[in-house]
Parts: sequence; structure tokens; C-alpha cells
Amino acid sequence: MKIALGSDHAGSELRNEIKLYLENKNYEILDCGTFKEVANYATEGIKVGENISYGNADLGILICGTGIGISIAANKVRGIRAAIGYNEEVAKLSRLHNNANVLAIGARFVNHDNVFKIIDAFLTSEFEGGRHEIRVDTILDYEDSCIDCF
Ligand code: RB5
Repeated sequence: MKIALGSDHAGSELRNEIKLYLENKNYEILDCGTFKEVANYATEGIKVGENISYGNADLGILICGTGIGISIAANKVRGIRAAIGYNEEVAKLSRLHNNANVLAIGARFVNHDNVFKIIDAFLTSEFEGGRHEIRVDTILDYEDSCIDCF
């Protein structure tokens, strides 16, 4: 499985730790940066989102200070469902129920001991479909209907 990773400066240190952790687990990594001292979370959020939408990666992990800005940015990309996984259970549910394809993490707020459990929960869970599919499809239908909206 190929994972696109991205962060702003607030998430760079954690991103590097996550990168090593996932490489050791034999995930293929597409590191979208940032490689700058000060970055704009929107740039990396969109970059990771586009790589998933274009099929260059299967799932994404994004990190900024709160997880908020970078998830908002990624969610503007067509086909992206970015969820802030603030604990293991929520990260798992974001896959099971929402078919989230990007996990967002707030580096300044996440419990460091939990972050790898949160990531494992996200990456090893599968969408349940069924009643949840109808709800996710409503979002996709809205996205489709909005092609010429703006
Ligand atoms: C950067 O200082 C910070 O604003 C950013 O990482 C993020 O928390 C925004 O949502």
C-alpha cells in the first residue's frame, strides 16, 4: 500500500517519525513535504489530496499543528475525505463509516504515545459499506453536481 505523507512546519518532525515507522512496516511512502522551515498547510494538504485523487497513492496522512487547516485544504480536492483522527477509535471509525482516505493529525495536540496506534487503526481498517455507503454516496453525488457550481 502506498501512503502519501504531508505536513506543514508544525508537523515536520512528527511526519519524519511517521515516515520511518511506516517504512519499517513496508509501506511505500510518497513524501510530499514540506521541506521548508515555514510552510503553508494548504499547499501540502492540496498536494497530498491531489496525489490520492490522481491515483498516485492509496491513502494519505497529513499533519499540521491542529490537524484542522491541513484537513480543510485536503477536503477541497475532489474525492478526498480527510478526517482528524484524534484517537484510535475515531481513526478506525473514519475508515469503517466514512471511507476516509486521509488521516489528519494535530501534532501539537495528539498524545505522542498514541499517534502510532491511531495510524495503525486507520491503515488497517476497511470501509464497511452498507448503510454507510448511502451516506458517503450523498457526498460524492453532491461533489459531482458541483462541477460547474463555481
Ligand atoms: C501553524 O502555526 C499552524 O497554524 C498550523 O499548523 C495549523 O495548526 C493550522 O490549522
